[in-house]
Amino acid sequence: MRIDVITIFPDYLNPLREALLGKAIERERISVGVHDLRDWTHDVHRAVDDSPYGGGPGMVMKPDVWGEALDEVCSGRDVTPRLVVPTPAGRPFDQKTAVRWSKDPWLVFACGRYEGIDQRVIDDAATRMPVEEVSIGDYVLVGGEVAALTMIEAVVRLLPGVLGNPQSAEQDSFSDGLLEGPCYTRPEVWRDRPVPDVLRSGNHAAIARWRRDQALERTYHRRPELLAALPEGDLDAADREQ
Ligand code: ADE
Repeated sequence: MRIDVITIFPDYLNPLREALLGKAIERERISVGVHDLRDWTHDVHRAVDDSPYGGGPGMVMKPDVWGEALDEVCSGRDVTPRLVVPTPAGRPFDQKTAVRWSKDPWLVFACGRYEGIDQRVIDDAATRMPVEEVSIGDYVLVGGEVAALTMIEAVVRLLPGVLGNPQSAEQDSFSDGLLEGPCYTRPEVWRDRPVPDVLRSGNHAAIARWRRDQALERTYHRRPELLAALPEGDLDAADREQ
């Protein structure tokens, strides 16, 4: 997979080179390009923003600079990229979105700052490529960079050969519509707290049942709306007793 990020703060994306993402680059599962938006300015001030039409606070990112940047970054390959624009005004990003994007050959992230990017940039790009404006949650960040990092990490860990154990991705919270329950490792007793007996019983059916019950209980308390959204057939008789 190819990933490009356009930003006025390229250093913000340095964590891409660390840990799991860095390993994925080393192993050539992904290749990453981070581009400084100001490289496409033509004035001495290298301006990327201007005041908003209609008035109001803040600044809007200029269409001419973004237009040239996207023309260049989104061309030159034999596939079309998906353009992702992180914005608090976007559709919610979730695990389903991550799974869908993980099948794409090429993602381009356009990170806006200030009040946002002139809408015509997005509308114009959408005539040539799939474009998604997405939010990572109901809070406002200073810009799209951290949101892009978040989404890239969620996508890249799903690529084959990136996680050491492929079952990790399959057992994620959300992959069955529930939150994952608690987990334990050695020692058997820590600060007078024992590991639940069932996990040391060797009874795989009982362990699976216990884990499912814990997941249901946790989801019920922390994210009741997820339980309500489960398809009818997803709960078995034992689940209903919970
Ligand atoms: N930019 C600022 N806030 C954001 C959010 N919540 N999601 C995505 N991009 C953003």
